[in-house]
Amino acid sequence: MTETVLLVGGGGREHAVARALGESDADLYACAGNRNPGIAALAEGFETLDTTNPTAVTTYAREVDATLAVVGPEAPLAAGVADALDDAGVYAFGPQEAEARIETDKAFQRRFMRDNDIPGCPDFETFDDMEAACAYVDDYDGDLAVKPAGLTGGKGVRVTGDQISKAEAKEYIRESNYDRIVLEERLVGEEFTVQAFVANGEVRVTPAVQDHKRAYEGDEGPNTGGMGSYSDAGLELPFMDEDDYMAAVDVIEATVDALEGYKGVLYGQFMLTSEGPKVVEFNARFGDPEAMNTLPVLNTPFLDVLTAARDEESLPQLSFQPKATVCKYAVPEGYPTNPEAGARVTIDEENAGDALLFYASVDERADGIYTTTSRSYAVVGVADSIGEAEEIAERALDRAGTDGLRVRHDIGTADLVQQRLDHMAEIRGER
Ligand code: AMP
Ligand code: GLY
Repeated sequence: MTETVLLVGGGGREHAVARALGESDADLYACAGNRNPGIAALAEGFETLDTTNPTAVTTYAREVDATLAVVGPEAPLAAGVADALDDAGVYAFGPQEAEARIETDKAFQRRFMRDNDIPGCPDFETFDDMEAACAYVDDYDGDLAVKPAGLTGGKGVRVTGDQISKAEAKEYIRESNYDRIVLEERLVGEEFTVQAFVANGEVRVTPAVQDHKRAYEGDEGPNTGGMGSYSDAGLELPFMDEDDYMAAVDVIEATVDALEGYKGVLYGQFMLTSEGPKVVEFNARFGDPEAMNTLPVLNTPFLDVLTAARDEESLPQLSFQPKATVCKYAVPEGYPTNPEAGARVTIDEENAGDALLFYASVDERADGIYTTTSRSYAVVGVADSIGEAEEIAERALDRAGTDGLRVRHDIGTADLVQQRLDHMAEIRGER
């Protein structure tokens, strides 16, 4: 039987999912708030709709006779789109609203880790009284991360001793007027991500990736959804060893055991500290950009993972090409604080050479491609080494064009990778 897959979401991550599914014999349909030209070109049908409206999504799923769905972004998961699809008889690879709380409610997530003795949980307290939170900041001996409990597109966290002072942290807490926040110990180290396919209690892990959250080169500026990312030819990154990777896998497995009934991708964001990996957060979906590092090197057909998950069969063992990847995003000027949306951009996809090009949150209209408030497109170099992959990505950006867009050119460069190694060596030296 040919599967009919409905893909929900129109970012770079979803373009990567579309391309991975395109390698199998599946009929693809997609829906998103923006018309992503890359996904639209691969899909039999593309509907522009509000993906946080469960009825709109299930109506389209029924219309196209979907046999499976993949929900890419967190907002539809938080809105119960996976529940609605499951109820409509379309298996959604993505957790139901209750399980997605592991991402959508950071206070729940921390308490869940504590209650279930999941390793790698930092010290934390949750607050709904902002004055009590400010008093805690004053009394706390050391630096803290201030985290709104709800979704902020990765842009809500402030860390003292890094981005801001404690006085500024209190100002931030008072002014932003969040309902609930988490205050937790500042973790110091190198960040990495491990994404896992999860269904029927089984877990299949993928290579570690390092994202770059800060907007500007040298890790300066505000946090973004992620400016780019790299992975190495094996499971680990240059600054970590097998034990570090396995410790992260243990955390993911313990979390899946405790969650019961979780399905979809579980994304663990870790800080590799002097005491090993600690959990920065979980996401209930593929990372964006990280999906663009992972799916292109996955040899196992992604469709086989989806059908096994739905049919309650054992998930296939995953095999990956032994290749490094470097992904770099081109984003609108002013992103993330004051992004220039609605600007027409020229993206010469044909000219991207041997790199992969993924369209992200751009909108294709009759007369061209326009920016939105989020990231525009990404290129991914795939090669034997991170250095070669980085060069492929840079060449592709140059050729595809970045007029009116901004890029972090330092991602994946030998210099920056060496800085990560030196930083980790320094931290381990303090052990
Ligand atoms: P999150 O939205 O939880 O991924 O947080 C965004 C970014 O804030 C992370 O990628 C980290 O760089 C930083 N961050 C979050 N929690 C902490 C923490 N406890 N210590 C240090 N940095 C953190
Ligand atoms: N790259 C971070 C995220 O997907 O949340």
